Amino acid sequence: MTGKAKDTNSFPHSHLLGIEGLSASEITYLLDRAETYVEQNRQADKRKTLLRGRTIINLFFEASTRTITSFELAGKRLGGDVINMAVSASSMQKGETIVDTAMTLNAMHPDVIAVRHSDSGAVKLLSEKVNCAVINGGDGKHEHPTQALLDALTIRRRKGKLAGLQVAICGDIAHSRVARSNIHLLNTMGATVRLIAPKTLIPTDIAKMGAEVFNDMNQGLQNCDIVMMLRLQTERMHKNFFPSIREYFHFFGLTYEKLANAKPDALVMHPGPMNRGVEIDSEVADDIGRSAIREQVEMGVAVRMACLEALTLNAPEQDLNA
Ligand code: NCD
Repeated sequence: MTGKAKDTNSFPHSHLLGIEGLSASEITYLLDRAETYVEQNRQADKRKTLLRGRTIINLFFEASTRTITSFELAGKRLGGDVINMAVSASSMQKGETIVDTAMTLNAMHPDVIAVRHSDSGAVKLLSEKVNCAVINGGDGKHEHPTQALLDALTIRRRKGKLAGLQVAICGDIAHSRVARSNIHLLNTMGATVRLIAPKTLIPTDIAKMGAEVFNDMNQGLQNCDIVMMLRLQTERMHKNFFPSIREYFHFFGLTYEKLANAKPDALVMHPGPMNRGVEIDSEVADDIGRSAIREQVEMGVAVRMACLEALTLNAPEQDLNA
């Protein structure tokens, strides 16, 4: 879901609320634009003026390291003014609702608000109350579109394509917005998705999204091109989903031994933050020959620049007297 479609632009949406509903050509457009920013971000002078005079607010109601930092860098590298709203210090602590917060911020005429919230659907609700572009920085276990885009850019740069690849997403699928956005994106782009997790961490109807489900990691990883690991998101768990961390690592932690089931050139990915020794062995995570985890972080800035660019180019001129 992406907000109201407007005209025949390459990215004709007012918001980026999810990958669901985006077409292959819209995804490709964002990835191609991001590609140009990868080069810019490697130069000494990283600054552009595209967003000069524009205001971007990062409104994060949940903890974040890489996502908020890369939205901030993305906005600044495009020449915009960026404000990070520390929610613990805001009126939310005084009981103000998300809608009131949105309307208060809206009155200050921001051009883009990037939002992260623990409730699925909260970002869409906020987008309906403001008249600027809204980017979903992760809502509950629903969607995290910029993460799926940065994952896709990383894969496309390493493998030269997305279509036809076998991608295994492994771990805590049940609580993962990263998994959901990636399933949408990979299916739209013609890749095949497998989900690998214990039965307790796989929602029963997830196969309907277009993925094959495995409860055995050695089986699920057979012949895969991409092995995407997920963190156990204990902050969203309200009961026990597995007997112990030790047992979880034994069956579902990525080790060289299990990785040997995938293709010899299979790429290891993780959105971070990683729990070393829980879902991934430290040596595998740090193996620069196999792991693209640091590259994912780099691609995050370029992808967020492309999203900010696409949404601000689509924005109508603001009537400051309104
Ligand atoms: C992910 C998230 O917040 O959903 N992290 C991120 O954005 N890099 C995954 C996670 O928290 O495990």
